[in-house]
Amino acid sequence: MEAFRIEGPVHLSGSVRINGAKNASLPIIAATILAGGKSILKGVPNLIDIEVFSKLIESLGGKVERSADGLLSVDTTVIDKPVGEYEIVRRMRASVCILGPLLARYGSVKVSMPGGCAIGDRPIDIHLRGLRALGAKIYLENGYIVAESPNGLKGAEIFLGGPFGSTVLGTANVMMAATMAKGATIIESAACEPEIVDLAMCLNKMGAKISGIGSPRLKVEGVQELEAVEYEVIPDRIEAGTFMVAAAVTGSELRLSNCRLEDMMAVVDTLRNIGVSVESAGQEVIVSRRGAIKPVDITTLPYPGFPTDLQAQFMALLSLADGNSIIIEKVFPDRFMHLAELNRMAANLRKEGPVVISAGVDKLIAAQVMASDLRASAALVLAGLVAEGTTIVNRVYHLDRGYERLEERLNKVGAKIARVDI
Ligand code: EPU
Repeated sequence: MEAFRIEGPVHLSGSVRINGAKNASLPIIAATILAGGKSILKGVPNLIDIEVFSKLIESLGGKVERSADGLLSVDTTVIDKPVGEYEIVRRMRASVCILGPLLARYGSVKVSMPGGCAIGDRPIDIHLRGLRALGAKIYLENGYIVAESPNGLKGAEIFLGGPFGSTVLGTANVMMAATMAKGATIIESAACEPEIVDLAMCLNKMGAKISGIGSPRLKVEGVQELEAVEYEVIPDRIEAGTFMVAAAVTGSELRLSNCRLEDMMAVVDTLRNIGVSVESAGQEVIVSRRGAIKPVDITTLPYPGFPTDLQAQFMALLSLADGNSIIIEKVFPDRFMHLAELNRMAANLRKEGPVVISAGVDKLIAAQVMASDLRASAALVLAGLVAEGTTIVNRVYHLDRGYERLEERLNKVGAKIARVDI
């Protein structure tokens, strides 16, 4: 199994180009099912999760190819097996976002019911509630969700909020299904994440009629058909935030290109409160820290709040703060697998339910640690950059799901990370 051997502490300097967003790419690839024909997507990162999703599209009958210049072509002219098999869905929960498009285009779909994962239970009841409101008949059969709409879907007024606020992929599913429903659909308490905005923009380019984009109230007027598109996905705000923390935790300066600060206001505000400078300079964003890491309190929330996908990375940073910080997880209350591993590196983190109290320490000390999920792995790599000694992060396949060649890109700006087989 592959691991990272990280020598620390290091000082970083140089430029990093941020890739296209994984979490925008996945639902946009699913959206191509609605149109048929060949869509060309630009900026889709080369990640394990994208590979798995491409396999899923191919298992439905479609064709996915990546050209040498990085374009992803997705041909969904033929989709003759609308079944999301267990073997693929169990590897990636985002597979569930084929439900809406397949239901809209084919009137029937079967998708393996996703299980829990390292960050919590992750139910999909709200997705199903929304699709039922559009007229789908949905039942569970041998671990598969079966959804049918033999007479087509019908527009409806749907409240899509849940116990933790809006749902990102739930909004994606219902919005995609509504694009081809008869009449208008209102989705209230829709997710406002930039990735949902990007999906809606792509759908409109395909011929959909979605308004209220970026707000919690979306209006989708159904159309009869959609067309294949050429579309470029937005930059990955979570990858950008991860590199920002890399600069911050090592007390260095990094220049980031292809980085949209307007999607990251809560993150930038938090970094500035920590004492990190984040400034736009032409096409780049310069991130640097010189003084101490100041303690802050963070509460993760749906967008535009602080993203749960950066909670682990900021915990690594705040474990070195000059004082006590409080981190409250309000999106995935169990998403703390990284905590015990950071404590193995001499952090002083204590958890009480969904609340973590971090008593800042002067230094982290290298250790052998275990990656448990994508963002937790990133946090351990960041801690390894600054810890004294040789940190081993095991099971880096979690990291490869969401970061493209992270170690090579960090090494280019001064890190000392080797990918090793253990
Ligand atoms: N929820 C329900 N019922 C549902 C759906 C969600 O109770 O039917 C709850 C969840 O359990 C959670 C909250 O609502 O407590 C929000 O979950 P959401 O549905 O928004 O998450 P998701 O759509 O499954 C996406 C990202 C995650 C990211 C979350 C939150 C993709 C492929 N995944 O998941 O990304 O953490 O939104 O922003 O877009 C990652 O990239 O590492 C990652 C986990």
